[in-house]
Amino acid sequence: MKFLKDNTIVDIMEAKPEDAEELLELFKKVGSESTNLIMDHNGLDISLEEERKYLKEANEAITTKHFVAKVDGKIVGDCGIKGHKASKTKHNVDLGISVLKEFWNKGLGTILLEHTVNYARITAEIKNVYLEVREDNDFAIKLYEKLGFKKVGVMPDKIFLDGKYYDELIYLLQI
Ligand SMILES: CC(C)(COP(=O)(O)OP(=O)(O)OC[C@H]1O[C@@H](n2cnc3c(N)ncnc32)[C@H](O)[C@@H]1OP(=O)(O)O)[C@@H](O)C(=O)NCCC(=O)NCCS
Repeated sequence: MKFLKDNTIVDIMEAKPEDAEELLELFKKVGSESTNLIMDHNGLDISLEEERKYLKEANEAITTKHFVAKVDGKIVGDCGIKGHKASKTKHNVDLGISVLKEFWNKGLGTILLEHTVNYARITAEIKNVYLEVREDNDFAIKLYEKLGFKKVGVMPDKIFLDGKYYDELIYLLQI
């Protein structure tokens, strides 16, 4: 149990296959509330069965994990790492995070990211935690730099949004 800046109680836990439907709804909502994610109001373009399967596999895996934040039993944010499969790159994971707009700037992003990074630290398998962030996503960049992520690359013009190209930045935390 953790407290947000406004004293709201939040529980962080690993997502279970039973959370699949609610998670897909969360992705649709955050995708419609923010242009900062690659997904839009359609959320993740996968079926409920595929999401259930993904969460089951994540429960059993080490380098793929999906954590959710629940307030009064309802999912309000998530943070996940996805491990690489090839033997030469399996020490790398890709991280993604989202929080419902209603809960922004209350410390939830920090709590979710810390929880996920702490998990990565206790595994022996993970060396590099990578993430991608659009160059103008200032709050996300502040969050990542606060937790020690360093900018290691730029993908010029990767994002095209509302008639404009944006760079996508690559951030890395070495464990
Ligand atoms: C990015 C995101 C996860 C941050 O979540 P959050 O719950 O707002 O994060 P926090 O409240 O812990 O804030 C983290 C830092 O961001 C900055 N920040 C957040 N909101 C801010 C605001 N309104 N004004 C100024 N700084 C702000 C602060 O530096 C803060 O750290 P601090 O509290 O120690 O000062 C959330 O905004 C989000 O889900 N956005 C949409 C999806 C997205 O962009 N995901 C990341 C894609 S790469």
